Formats: sequence, structure tokens, C-alpha cells
Amino acid sequence: MSYYKIADLEQYFKHHKKSVREPRKFWSKIAEENFIWYQAWDKVFEFDMGKGDIKWFLNGKLNITKNCIDRHLSKRGEKTAIIFEPNNPSEEPQHISYNELYTRVSKTTNVLKSLGVKKGDRVCIYLPMIPELAVTMLACARIGAIHSVIFAGFSDAAIRSRVEDCGAKVIVTSDGGFRGEKTIKIKEIVDKAIEGLPSVEKVLVVKRTNEPVAFNDKIDVWFDELYEAAEASNIAEIMDSEDPLFILYTSGSTGKPKGMVHSTAGYMIQTAYTFQNVFDYKEGDIFWCTADLGWITGHSYILYGALLNGATTVIFEGIPTYPNPSRYWDIIDKYQVTHFYTAPTAIRSLMTSDYSYVASHNLSSLRVLGSVGEPINEEAWHWFNDFIGKKRCPIVDTWWQTETGSIMISPLACITPTKPTYATLPLPGIQTVLMDEKNNEITGNQVMGSLCVKFPWPSIARTIWGDHERFVKTYFSDFPGTYFTGDNALRDEVGYYRITGRADDVVIVSGHNLGTAPIEDAINQHPAVAESAVVGFPHDIKGNALYGFISLKLEGSTRDRENLKKEINQLIADHYGPIGKLDKMQFVDDLPKTRSGKILRRVLRSIAINQLDNFGDTSTMINPEVVSKIIENRL
Ligand code: WTA
Repeated sequence: MSYYKIADLEQYFKHHKKSVREPRKFWSKIAEENFIWYQAWDKVFEFDMGKGDIKWFLNGKLNITKNCIDRHLSKRGEKTAIIFEPNNPSEEPQHISYNELYTRVSKTTNVLKSLGVKKGDRVCIYLPMIPELAVTMLACARIGAIHSVIFAGFSDAAIRSRVEDCGAKVIVTSDGGFRGEKTIKIKEIVDKAIEGLPSVEKVLVVKRTNEPVAFNDKIDVWFDELYEAAEASNIAEIMDSEDPLFILYTSGSTGKPKGMVHSTAGYMIQTAYTFQNVFDYKEGDIFWCTADLGWITGHSYILYGALLNGATTVIFEGIPTYPNPSRYWDIIDKYQVTHFYTAPTAIRSLMTSDYSYVASHNLSSLRVLGSVGEPINEEAWHWFNDFIGKKRCPIVDTWWQTETGSIMISPLACITPTKPTYATLPLPGIQTVLMDEKNNEITGNQVMGSLCVKFPWPSIARTIWGDHERFVKTYFSDFPGTYFTGDNALRDEVGYYRITGRADDVVIVSGHNLGTAPIEDAINQHPAVAESAVVGFPHDIKGNALYGFISLKLEGSTRDRENLKKEINQLIADHYGPIGKLDKMQFVDDLPKTRSGKILRRVLRSIAINQLDNFGDTSTMINPEVVSKIIENRL
């Protein structure tokens, strides 16, 4: 029996059971049957959760790029691996076949080698969403160099701290980048970021905008020149299963960003497995994930998971509103996209534009929709389901984290019955548990608690770069013997999970533990509301009370505010309960967000309690300009 592809719900339960009872057999069969290895492992796993020590497929030897590219060449050489859709719709798109990808990655491998990049070196990549970004990641993996992609929207300070932390030797960047109407001076930002950093030996510059840039002959090198001259032939490095594949930084609620380290074999196996099963992938499908490659979602599903399955994946350089708000729908029709995987924040913002942008499109190629990154509110779920999926495409609400490497809790498309706002069931191999504050596992259904995982899985991050102690403290200390996700969840009467928000998004009002996400759900149902964020603030009688920051849709902005407040509180009372009513309601132009679209609640929490001197790490904020106005008008 093969465990790779799950056929139906019954088989899902069977595979899950198998993965719990016989994890060695379950994962080794998947690893053996679906990947190519230079040498088989001699032990499936070994771990000590208390010490944060986890190893999978010990002493196995492989190269992930052989699995992503080389092995497809005989059967799928001419098949399109990557469709590149440029920012400007009148610029020619690229259809990069697996053969062509092999050539590009091989040549780029030789370019990096000519700069002295070796196995184990760190290479930071600060590139816009162009094919060279994907190609450079793969070229690093081919050499065994550890890539660390920095989202090309981060500030110079954010780049500097990451480059410094991982001690990158080479940075790959571009002259500039296109984003909607704007041209971003990428190279200038990098120049500022690395000034005086001793570890950086070379900056490799890809030409994208062809605008003139400052060029320091001592360290800057043009990518194109070396690429033209580079040979395609190369040998993929032999990597150990546990050799690091990449570092990806994720921000914590306090302190500097954490460089999550992912290793080779476990990550490969589980991203491939989850891509196949969560999305019900079939040969010929066109998969489009709108995330940036600079986030874990981009790493695992635009790139690795997709290519490991020999799929066709779309890389989109632009933004959803350029040249107009129908861009996403244009792309879906243009390439006959079958899978559209995006984030609730994108859905909410698309919902606010005129429906005619959607209505003028066919969208009949779509087969599966996906959501990731934060809890999806009911209204957004229904809009996505009704208007984009036309009620015929399953929505996979995928819960996971940078740290988990791959999807952990999610419906399996076309198999698991979905339920709005529920991520539903843990995937095979994933043993989720809910814990109470006394460290006891909460059994049974219709319960709430801290979401933990009690057994390691192949793609879990192995450490925080340079700070294993922080790794242990953050993930393995609060609930000993388990991995703590930092999220709260509830389990309904049939065992479906709903993620209710970060553990720190809980406010205790009059002794009641209130998750802010469902209250926001209620608020967002108001037709005038675009988005909302609810935080707590100290209250003499209730202990804490609730403060809502609410942005309105265009058509809602002229409404009488006092009436609106009443209607919103009534909605909360109706849908959540009167306990969730807001004591303070502030209407704002926009909510402060991270570059990946998450609302920065930490900042709002500080504003609500009038603590204005320290917002923690705000390097990831995309719209700092909204903050001063929110502060000015605070209640
Ligand atoms: C949240 C993104 C609810 C959650 C892959 C998690 C979600 C954090 C969902 C990780 C979802 C992600 N429903 N919440 N489907 N997906 N989250 O590291 O709080 O950028 O802990 O990884 O996003 O964010 P990260």
C-alpha cells in the first residue's frame, strides 16, 4: 500500500491512524517511494522534545534540486515548470519548461560557485518576484549553500539585521523592481543595508529595471555577465538529510526576528506530500499561490512543494490592484489557473472593490481555493466561496507556520467536508492537542485551549540560527513534551479545529476569556466595515475591556458614526454575545500591517493602553504612516 496520495475520507483517517501508530513505517514508505536519494537513511527519526533536538532520515544523502528538477526531465522536460507573469501586463510573460529551468539553475549554480559560494555558506536573496529569485534559491540548494530570502519590501535596517545574524557571504539582488505604478530602488536599499558589514564579500546584481545604479567594483558584480559565460553542466552536491536547506526569518512578538532553520530531507518530503494531498494536485493543473517567495508560503508551495510534484507554478511580480482591481481574475483566466491560494487579507481587500471586476471574468478553470496566514472570517469565506469558487470549489483553509515548514491542519480538497472558518483536521503525521494552563491535555470535543503538537513531524524547523536556547524556550518550554504553536484553537463536536488567534490575542473581560477573532468576525459582517482589530485595555470594573479599531469601506465612510457604533455593537451582541461589546470604537483609515498582510495587533494594543514609546520591532510594517493618525485620534 502506498501512503502518498489519499483517495477518500476513510483513507485519510486510516493514514492518520497509521502515522500515529507506526510513524517510522508511514514516513519511510513515503520517502522511499516518491523521492530519489543518493543513499538511504539508516534511522527514520530521533528526537528529544525537551531539548528541541529533532532529526529525520538520519544519514540519508540527497539533493533536493535533483528531486525538484532532474528527475522530471525524462518525462516532463518540455512541460512548463514556472509561468512568470510580469507586473506590467503588456510585458511578455515567460513559460519556463523543466528543461529550461534545469539550464537556468545549473548556470546560476556555476555563477555562485565562481563567487566562491560553497556548501554551508549563507546567501541572502533580496529580489523582487522574478524568475531569478526562484532560480537562485534552487541554485543555492544545488550547491548546498543555505539561502535566506529577505522579502523585497523590507527596509535596509531589516536586511542588515538579517544579513548580520546569518553572516551571509553573498547577497543576490537586482537594480530595481516593479510594483504596480512604482519602481523600487532595490540596489540602493541593499547598498545602505550592508555598509561596513564585514561578512559580505559579493553583491550579485540582476538587471530588472535597467535604471542606472551605484556600482562598487570591489564587491558588486553583474549577474547577467557571469550568467552568459557560465556553463550549464554541474554536479549537485551530496547533502545530508539534516543539512540546513534555508533560514527564513519570522518576527516574534518581542525581540529580534528569529532565523528559523529548515533542513533538507524532512522539509522536502512533507512539502511535497502536503502539496499533493491538501490541494488534490493532478497532472496538468496550474497552481497559483499569491504569496511572495520571501515568505514560508512561497518557499513551500510556490516553489518546493510544486516542483517536487512536477507541477506548473505561477510567479506573479505585481499587485492585485494594478493596472486595476481585476488583475487576479485576469491572470486566472489567462493561464486557466486551477488552484488559487491566497490570504484572508487579500480576499477582504478584493471584496471591497466593485463586483463588476469579478463578474466580467469566467473563472471556470478554478478547481480548488486556498487560504493561509490568519483566521479567515465568515464573510470573507462566503464571498470567496460564492463569487470566486462559484460554490463548486472547495476552500482549503490551511493552518501552519514558518516554523512548521508545511501545512499542518487543513481540509483535503475534494475529500474533507469544509466548514467556514475551520481549518478542520490535522494531516497525517500531525498529532495536534489542546492544552490547558495547567499543562494538561484537554480531551474530548467542544473544547478550547492552547494548540500544541505532541510528536515531531519531518518538516519542523530544527533550530533558530545561532540561538538554540531561544528555540527551546519559545516552542518547547510552555507545555513540556510538546511543540507549542503560540495559537489558541477550539475543537468542535466532530473534532474540527478552528484557530481562534494567537495566544496573545486573548483578552480576559470580566473573567471571561474572549478570543478577539470571533468578535472581529461579527464586526466585519457589518456592510460598512472593511476590516477590524480588537484589543484589550485595562478597565476598573471588568479587569479588561475591548477596544476596536475599524476601517470602513468607501461607501461606509459617510455614515453617521454614532449610529454605526450602535449597529456594530448590536452585531457583536447578536453573533458573539453582549460580553463582546466594544467599550471603545475608533474608525481608522487603515490598520497597521506587516508586509505579509497580518494586522500588527501589538502596535494597536500599545496604542489602546497609551503606551506610545515602544512598539517593539516595527521593521516589518508596510504602512507606518497610518500609525501617527491612529495615535492622534485615539480614545
Ligand atoms: C496564523 C504562515 C488561522 C497563525 C504559513 C500562525 C492562521 C501564524 C492560518 C503563522 C489559518 C496561519 N487560520 N490562522 N489558516 N494560517 N495562521 O509564520 O497565527 O507567517 O501561528 O506562516 O499565522 O504565520 P507564518
